[in-house]
This record gives sequence, C-alpha cells and structure tokens, in this order.
Amino acid sequence: MTRKLFVTTALPYANAPFHVGHMMEYIQADIWVRFQRMRTNDDGSPMEVHFVCADDAHGAPIMIAAEKAGLTPQAFVAQIADGRKQYLDGFHIGFDNWHSTDAPENHALAQDIYRALREQGLIDVRSVEQFYDPVKGMFLPDRYIKGECPKCGTKDQYGDNCENCGAVYSATDLKHPYSTLTGAAPVRKSSDHYFFKLSSPRCVDFLKEWTTTAGTLQPEVLNKIKEWFAVDADGRAGLNDWDISRDAPYFGIEIPDAPGKYFYVWLDAPVGYLASLKSHFAKLGRDDFDAFMADPQVEQIHFIGKDIITFHTLFWPAMLHFSGRKTPAHINVHGFLQVSGEKMSKSRGTGISPLKYLELGMNAEWLRYYIAAKLNAHVEDIDFNPDDFMARVNSDLVGKYINIASRAAGFLTKRFGGQLSADVGVEGRVLLDGLRAHRATVAALYEDREFAKALREVMLLADRVNEYVDQNKPWELARVAGQEAVLHDVCTVCIEAFRVLTIYLKPVLPALTAQVEAFLRVAPMNFADADRALGAHPIGEYAHLMQRVDAKQLDALLAPPVIELPPPGGEPIAPEIKVDDFAKIDLRIAHITECARVEGSTKLLRLTLDVGEGKMRNVFSGIQSAYTPEQLVGKFTVVVANLAPRKMKFGVSEGMVLAASHADEAEPGLYILEPWAGATPGMRVR
Ligand code: MSP
Ligand code: ZN
Repeated sequence: MTRKLFVTTALPYANAPFHVGHMMEYIQADIWVRFQRMRTNDDGSPMEVHFVCADDAHGAPIMIAAEKAGLTPQAFVAQIADGRKQYLDGFHIGFDNWHSTDAPENHALAQDIYRALREQGLIDVRSVEQFYDPVKGMFLPDRYIKGECPKCGTKDQYGDNCENCGAVYSATDLKHPYSTLTGAAPVRKSSDHYFFKLSSPRCVDFLKEWTTTAGTLQPEVLNKIKEWFAVDADGRAGLNDWDISRDAPYFGIEIPDAPGKYFYVWLDAPVGYLASLKSHFAKLGRDDFDAFMADPQVEQIHFIGKDIITFHTLFWPAMLHFSGRKTPAHINVHGFLQVSGEKMSKSRGTGISPLKYLELGMNAEWLRYYIAAKLNAHVEDIDFNPDDFMARVNSDLVGKYINIASRAAGFLTKRFGGQLSADVGVEGRVLLDGLRAHRATVAALYEDREFAKALREVMLLADRVNEYVDQNKPWELARVAGQEAVLHDVCTVCIEAFRVLTIYLKPVLPALTAQVEAFLRVAPMNFADADRALGAHPIGEYAHLMQRVDAKQLDALLAPPVIELPPPGGEPIAPEIKVDDFAKIDLRIAHITECARVEGSTKLLRLTLDVGEGKMRNVFSGIQSAYTPEQLVGKFTVVVANLAPRKMKFGVSEGMVLAASHADEAEPGLYILEPWAGATPGMRVR
C-alpha cells in the first residue's frame, strides 16, 4: 500500500502566544507524523507526509487588539508570528511549513471556493438586523455588547446570559445596552449578509453521508453530530444556514462582487490548511498542488480540539465538497489539557507557560513523554499533575528506559573497545526476539493514536530488560575472571534492547533518539530497523542521556506568575520633577461665564473664563464629547494660566482647562476638574 498524508493541526488565533493547550495538540500530531515518517510503503519507498499549520490572522478580536496596540492588523499578527518559532523548535514540533491565513494563497483559495459555492446555488443574501456602534462605525459582535439583565436587572452583563441569575437571552434583549468599545448605546441597523445554505437538502444529505463514513470520525464525535441533525420539538431541522459575511470595517478577505463585505473569519480559516500546503509545495518547487489535492491516495487529516468540531465536521467538508474538492479522510478530535484538575485560565494565572518551562531548563521531551503517556484516541480531557509528571519521567522514562543503556555502556567501552559481540546467547536472543515481536503492536497503537497504551507496552518491555540485567548482574560478571564472553554478551543484549526500545520511543523522543543514534553510530532509525540486529558493531562513548526532573523546577513552573498591573489610568507616571518645575506651572481657579459649541468642530467647546483679572479669557477645550455648554456655564474649574497663547483655526486660546481621562482614547470618559465650594476666581492652585 502507498499512503500520502496531508496532516494539520488547528490554526491558532494570531492574537496571543501559545499556551500549553496548543503545545499538547502539536505534540499529539507531531508524534503521529513522526511515527508515519518512520514507516515505509509496501514497496519500501518512504511515505509521503506533509505536516503544516498557519496563524489564523483574521476577525474582529484581532482587529480590535491591533488597534489597542496601536498597530495595523498586519503588523500585529506579524509580531505574534515572529514569536512562534521558539515554541515549535523548543518542543521539537516538526511542521514542514508555517503560514498565515492572510497570505495571498488564502485570499485566492477562499474566493475560489466561494465562487464555486455560489455557482452551485448555495449562497443566499438576506438582510440581518444587528447592533451597531454609531461612534465606532461598526457592527458589534455580541461579545462587545453589555447591558442590564432583562430578567434581574444586574448591570454589565454580556449579551448571551446573566452571570447573576443565569437567564439566557440574546444581545438585543439587554436593557440599556452599551458598546464595550466606546460606551455608546448601540443602535439596531440592517445590512445584507451572505449565507452558505447548509440547510439545503443537498447539503444535509451530503453531510449525513460524509459524517457516517466509517473511520472519518470518532464514535463520540459522531454521536454529537447526530444531535445537531436531529429535528427539534418544533419540527425545526438541526442545521441552519451559515452566516459567512461581515461588514467593513473587518480584518479579513473581501467577498467577490460584494463591496464592503468580508468573509467571516471561520470561512477562510480552514482554507488556510490548503494555503499552507500550497505555499509548502511552492517552496519545494512542486507545481502539482491541485493534482495532489485531487489524488485519491492522499489522506487529508486534521487534528483539532473538541471546541471546534462543528467547523471541521460540517462547514469545512461541505465547503470542500460543493466546491468540487476532496473531503478530509479523518478529523482527529482531542480533549482539553487541564492543570492540576483545573481548567486553564489566564486571568487566574493557572496553566503552565511553555516558555517558562523551557527557560527553567526543563527538558521538552519530558513533557512530550508525559503528554503521550496520557493521550488516547478519545475525546477525553487530560490532566497535567505535577506529582504524576515527576513519577512518570523519573521512574519510567529515566529509571526504566535510560538506565538500560547506562548500566551496560561503560563495560563495553572499557573492556571491549566499544565493540558489540557478533552473536548473543540463547537467553539474550529470546529476550530480544520478544521485544521485536511487539513491533507490530506498538506500531498499530501509534497509528490508532493510542499513545498511552503504546508507551505502557514499551515500559513493560523495559521491565523485562531490567529483569534480565538484574538476573545477569554485569557488575558481578565484571569482577569474575573468565567471564569476559558472558559479560560481553549481556552488555550487547542490553544495548541491542535499548536500541529497539529507542525505535519504539522515537516518535515521542526525537532529540533524545538523535543522541542515541550518534552514540550507537547508526543512521537515523526506522521502525523496520528494530528487526535487524547490529551484530559486531562499534559504538561510541556513552554520555548521560537524560536528567531526572527536579521538584524545585516543578515548583518554579507552577508558582503563580507575578501579575503585572496595567499602569494607572493606562500610562506610567511621568519622570520625576522638582518642586521648582511644578512651580513653573501657574494653575488658577476659573469661573466659566459663557460656553458655546464651536461651529465647524465636533470636538471643541469655546469657554469664556473669569480668572479674576478684570478681563475675560477665551479658551478652547476638546470636551464637546463629554459636556454640553449648558452643563458648564456657571461652574468653577482649574486652568493653566501661564500657558503661551495658542493660535487655532477658530481663534486664540488663552489657557488650558484641566480634565481627567484614560490614556487609551478608546476608553470612555472625560471629566473636567471642579474645586470644592468656596474657591474664587484667580486663586492659585499649588
Ligand atoms: N483559530 C481557531 C482554529 C481555526 S482552524 C481552521 C482556534 N484557535 S485557538 O487558538 O483558539 O485554538 C487552537 C487549537 O488549540 C484548537 O484545536 C483548540 O481546541 C486547541 N486548544 C485550546 N485550548 C486547549 C487546551 N486547554 N487543551 C488542548 N487543546 C486546546 O480555535
Ligand atoms: Zn439576571
């Protein structure tokens, strides 16, 4: 059989660095891919495997985060992308390509797919009424709307449910809703939206068949999907049409022939799988991307988490199928990684920072081994438990496996010139044959993503080898004259056994295996190499291969991070000044005698101020968004009285009124200063 594999992990949002949950997904997929790369086709040719990923660059949250950071969305996601390599290299994740959904290939592919769906009559345009932020000039995704719970009246609740009484409602039900972006009251506004007609009988029939095709989905995933297809009590079919458009301003891909409309991020995100592979092919100088994607031998395989099943089992296969493309062969869904039994939460400071892990000098392959030792083919959450982590790494990985090499290698170097013996005795041969006999089982477990079982199998084999060592006691043989040949035999068996176990662990421990290959002076090992004995073969000098975990490292890793408070008012306190510096600024109480809007300006108010000088001052102030003239007339405030007069478009400004605001202009609120009652015009503020 000849297999061609196209493997991906989910494309992470380009709005934050990786967390350990991402690393778990990459480790799972990477182990599976490395295992495949160690096999050959039936004719002995190497298997063709492509393993790619990309940043998921688009969408409103990224656009808004970029704006807050004072960057263009492109610059913002580029910054995130620059940080990816240290994680991927650090944990030995061997993607062939890392791309971006904002790359040109993705724009072209997403638009092609859309045009094909439209030609199939599967695109519909309908008017949709949504909340719109009149200040920001954009439609508001629900997560940017808050208001009072329509049921219990609790303030500052999100648009889907109430944290206080648990009521479930939609954003338009909120009382006194406001935009969390500007504080403005959102207005209802209609706009045309583009829909993918998933509810059409053609789509439903196709998806019912595709999802139930044997081997495509895990049974528990299929059960979930059957619920979605089910017709509810009101007779409504489970599948709704999918709204795939968003109005400008939006960071995304333009919809062809629809000015001002962009694809919703989840439309172009999975297309990024294809774009990344296409860019990978281009880098390889291959021009057969389309032929590869159409090749019946190619298996397209996605590793994803349980939270994004719908997108990958309904929307994505339908997009592919109805645009005339092949559909994925397998969607491999995993559960979530938790830390000490708790869901990871960045705000509460739980979770493990992958970078901190590396910075503490912890071995990336400890984590790979530990995660592998917990993973199976089901959608089950797994827990990072520090005690368990230490036990598994120290007792199993180092204690059982690494130890085999360290117990035998020294004698071979010192006594036998580093040469393995050509043949070993019956007992050794039986042991080694026993290990080799498990090759197919271990391989099948890797293939089925039953990594925990595969590693358990390997550790049981390591137990057998250690029993052999304990029975044959090389350290005693070394002291008895005339036992040279037996000692040579026993040590050779140990090294040979260690080599076989290393092959079985290679998908999980790629860097360690490279060290072992150098030590054994062998070429990169494949699964089939387990069956061939090295025979009389010179090995190198043994250097310690892996440390044990130190409890102190784990304590440091799990110590809550020092929480960095944002600076007060959104900006750090200015550099220190002397009292003389302050004295240069002459602040005076002013009485606002008149106030008017400035014609032609949306920002300025014109204030007439009495500063006790026997004449009035004219001051322009950018506070029109916060106050009406009527609110200000007759009030007292504080003015910078010795500021050089400033010539403005509307006249000369003779001072500056003091007001408080957040450094971030997007944060609502502007508050003018007012002295306590009794202060009179002209009094100095010091
Ligand atoms: N951008 C989308 C995916 C688009 S795929 C075309 C997305 N990004 S994500 O960054 O939120 O998540 C990326 C992957 O990480 C998803 O598969 C998600 O399930 C997985 N994980 C997120 N938290 C996780 C854990 N705590 N544990 C394991 N995987 C986790 O969704
Ligand atoms: Zn409520």
